[in-house]
Amino acid sequence: MAELEALKQQAAVRAAALVQSGTRIGLGTGSTARYAILELGRRLAAGELEGVMAVATSQASEDLARSLNIPVEPLTPEPLDIVIDGADEIDPQLNLIKGLGGALTREKLVEVQARRFAVIADHTKLVSRLGEKAPLPIEVVQFGVDSTVERLRALGARGELRRDAGALYITDNGNYIFHAHFPENASLASLERSLKGVLGVVETGLFLGMATVAYVATPEGVRELHA
Ligand code: A5P
Repeated sequence: MAELEALKQQAAVRAAALVQSGTRIGLGTGSTARYAILELGRRLAAGELEGVMAVATSQASEDLARSLNIPVEPLTPEPLDIVIDGADEIDPQLNLIKGLGGALTREKLVEVQARRFAVIADHTKLVSRLGEKAPLPIEVVQFGVDSTVERLRALGARGELRRDAGALYITDNGNYIFHAHFPENASLASLERSLKGVLGVVETGLFLGMATVAYVATPEGVRELHA
């Protein structure tokens, strides 16, 4: 296994160890969250866990969970005991950019209901300022997308609609994603407020003040970070 993959797995296994029998879990999306789902499936099969119920943040994670006999239910207003998910960038306050895996809206819907939201990542995801490396994914409705993109550009966003193999990427919710870059001095909270006020924007990949802990794997071991 390549070194980065091994690190992702170490962070995921550490967070999956927090899950107890009888709890309600949120399953993240992406290559790091995948290791957490695999570990939860392993713990269930080994009899280390029982009576858990999961809510998935994407169809891919739901399919993986079901293949491992992890019971999956739809999201209801009942809180989730713990949600484990990856991130594209993590700042020192544990604010996150998420959504390069395309699942940001379902992720935010699930993570806002978490009593504990554990972020798992390898050390390359740590940044001093969000937007340092990754674009900010913004989910936008398909109808009138060019007008929505113009409104985003008027707010100072540079960027493009996400394409995979040439075709516009479509989320599990049937929407497009705009990958945005903003000026370095943009305040995160006011940027989030402005973006949420743009007609045609469904959700943004800014997850501010939501994570309760981060497990970040480095070559020297897994670090536990708090805001
Ligand atoms: C999915 O939409 C994302 O928010 C992922 O959690 C994020 O992109 C991290 O993915 P990786 O673990 O694959 O880097």
